[in-house]
Amino acid sequence: MGQVYLFAPGNSEKKMQKAINLHTDAVIIDLEDSVPSNEKAMARQLVSSIFDTEEINTVRSKLYVRINSLKTPWFFKDINMVKELKRLDGIMIPKSEDKTSISLAAELLNKDIEIIPLIESAAGVMNIEDILKSHPAVKKVAFGSVDFALDIGVDWSEEGIERSYAMSKLVLASRTCGANPPIDAVFPIINDRESFIEDTIKGKQTGFYGKMVIHPKQTEWVKEVYAPTKKQLEWCMKVINVFESSTHSGAIDLEGKLIDRPVYLLAKRLVSSS
Ligand code: COA
Ligand code: MG
Repeated sequence: MGQVYLFAPGNSEKKMQKAINLHTDAVIIDLEDSVPSNEKAMARQLVSSIFDTEEINTVRSKLYVRINSLKTPWFFKDINMVKELKRLDGIMIPKSEDKTSISLAAELLNKDIEIIPLIESAAGVMNIEDILKSHPAVKKVAFGSVDFALDIGVDWSEEGIERSYAMSKLVLASRTCGANPPIDAVFPIINDRESFIEDTIKGKQTGFYGKMVIHPKQTEWVKEVYAPTKKQLEWCMKVINVFESSTHSGAIDLEGKLIDRPVYLLAKRLVSSS
């Protein structure tokens, strides 16, 4: 089922502890845009002390840190800090536009952790294949929709017309480069469940797998969209049974719908992922 990545600001001990104790699929501790410039050093220390406990090894979530980009004064300091953490599943590199910062981070870290490039500009989208192939530590990318709108010079919209081509391009490139599907962007409106669900459905249907969120309550909403419904599962079981008991593997009519090999394979995949 689609994974949830919950962001917690690196300058808030309370939110980081809360996020970690929720045991959601993954937590991304943020050192970038949720932390003001004059609190970068404090946040780095705070993150380091939170990870320097025995309890951190009992956390069931995957743990990531979003560092600051190479274009900022904090990239190297952030890397040096995360390199020393006892437990870390990976880092996220924001505003990734080419392979330079990824290769550099991998070399400096010199440990077996994942690197998730965050694609949030036209350059990042256009260079996606280079980014995906930059290092074996890159298993997938994530998309940032608000910075992307800013970069291409339009307003961010709920419906997402401005990002639909970019999102599809990330999905197709991930597939052809042998990477996992990309992670969908955060939806910056916190209190509107309906529009959040609509946005998550669009991402899922575009080919994304899982979503980043900024508030704990959005976690359940992502799960809701990615979990198959009872009705879907029942239909898929019917498709599987009819196809497997058929004397031929060509087209079959089931309640007015065409069932053939790809339909059968989709049904099997949905059942096995539930
Ligand atoms: N992680 C963990 N806990 C969080 C949280 C988060 N991302 N967002 C909110 N909470 C906690 C709050 O601390 C509060 O806890 P409490 O009930 O124990 O006091 C509870 O959930 C309810 O929070 P609420 O009052 O609805 O929100 P808020 O005003 O405290 O915070 C934001 C709103 C947007 C500032 C907050 O959700 C946030 O910081 N999100 C992450 C931002 C971020 O990391 N951005 C970078 C990536 S885009
Ligand atoms: Mg951003």
